[in-house]
Amino acid sequence: MGLLLKCEHVDFGYENQDAVVDVSLEVRTGDYICIVGENGSGKSTLMKGILGLLKPTAGRIEVSEELKRAGIGYLPQQTEAQKDFPATVFEVVLSGCLGKRGNRPFYSAREKNAARANLERLGIADLRKSCFRDLSGGQKQRVLIARALCATDRLLVLDEPITGLDPSAIQEFYQLIRHLNREEQVAILMVSHDMANIVHQADKILHMRQRPLFYGPVREYVKSRWAREFLAGEDAAEEKAGNAAEEKAGNATEEKAGNAAEEKTGNAAGVSADGKEDAT
Ligand SMILES: Nc1ncnc2c1ncn2[C@@H]1O[C@H](COP(=O)(O)OP(=O)(O)OP(=O)(O)O)[C@@H](O)[C@H]1O
Ligand SMILES: [Mg+2]
Repeated sequence: MGLLLKCEHVDFGYENQDAVVDVSLEVRTGDYICIVGENGSGKSTLMKGILGLLKPTAGRIEVSEELKRAGIGYLPQQTEAQKDFPATVFEVVLSGCLGKRGNRPFYSAREKNAARANLERLGIADLRKSCFRDLSGGQKQRVLIARALCATDRLLVLDEPITGLDPSAIQEFYQLIRHLNREEQVAILMVSHDMANIVHQADKILHMRQRPLFYGPVREYVKSRWAREFLAGEDAAEEKAGNAAEEKAGNATEEKAGNAAEEKTGNAAGVSADGKEDAT
């Protein structure tokens, strides 16, 4: 499979402070890589570096000629302001062609056709005249993916794309990404905290804590101590919120986090060995 992008021992930082240290990573056609890690562990910074929005302070990034020509589609981490964007769906999707428009004052017929085609591709053509801010979370996400696909369909970079979606919209989102990845060979680089789902979706995991703690296939990741620690952390958070309390009633309190982590990693390992079954 063709190499799209390669990071060799790259560092990124802000005003002499390192945020990302010594990351080596390859992205090939059709890859599906998830980046996990706690808040502030450098995930978004690494994505910005890969997109060329930040310059490495050490190491180097090699971008293939193919990807230089095609560009990268980007779905940034969402802010409230972006959700209120006062434009029609068609305008938002078309703005994904900005990089290709260059200095021309107007979009070409070809770019408008690309925007229409991507609306069709994501099943939201009937929403094209709707105001973006009036859409549901799941619809907004489809619009933003259609927008990213206007930039390219070689590599999509998605930063915490499921934030704010309800469970059915989340499953729909994963199906869509899986389709783009498997059927259309779009390479996916996705930042997510949603470990329960991503271990069934991605091929590889990069676990960041400023430096990479783990980078490799999901089936190895789920057996690693990093996955256990991360899942135990997530479970502890869930329990705090009171979600897991009922389900696990009867278990010894001290064992809760450990048991749940093992159970989850065990399931995930079985599934990925079978070749990535559905999450359900
Ligand atoms: N624009 C910026 N200027 C200065 N420091 C920044 C900037 N953006 C991020 N940082 C710092 O860099 C570190 C990594 O931040 P980053 O946003 O990459 O983390 P993250 O893993 O994406 O976190 P989250 O899960 O909260 O999105 C943090 O210490 C953060 O405070
Ligand atoms: Mg982030």
